[in-house]
Amino acid sequence: MAQLPILRYPDPRLHTVARPVAVVDERIRQLVDDMIETMYASEGVGLAATQVDVHERVIVMDTSDQHDQPVVLINPEITERSAEFMLGEEGCLSVPQIYDKVERHARVTVRALGRDGQPFELKAEGLASVCVQHEMDHLLGKVFVEYLSPLKRDRIRTKMLKKTREEQRGG
Ligand code: NI
Repeated sequence: MAQLPILRYPDPRLHTVARPVAVVDERIRQLVDDMIETMYASEGVGLAATQVDVHERVIVMDTSDQHDQPVVLINPEITERSAEFMLGEEGCLSVPQIYDKVERHARVTVRALGRDGQPFELKAEGLASVCVQHEMDHLLGKVFVEYLSPLKRDRIRTKMLKKTREEQRGG
């Protein structure tokens, strides 16, 4: 396994729309394993392939308390959304150290293929529901800061560009 570099907002590649995975083969399983390793190493609860510059519909997440229950969602589709919404604080590995509130469906049902290529259904609520919706947005090229006001988004953009410049200078 290997850790993969994570694209940082406002990298334009984060706005790429991912295509469906044609076949769950060894290449995809390797990607899944690398994404899981990257997610744990970065202390995130979810990671979409878009964030590691692979534009195929693959998500890994783990919202368990012990971080020992990884969930793999390949070609995920939401089949049910609750009418009820919830407001939760979100962060993103592509927008480090930024957290803000976003409204999401309180519960969603997702159909996807697992790492073994077999279809399954996931009923998610609370943090898992937020995570599924956040990661599925990534596959559509959307980053959570796009739900915030233009003013907040501009501030975040400026902050991230500055951080990236500083790192590139080695500072
Ligand atoms: Ni994210």
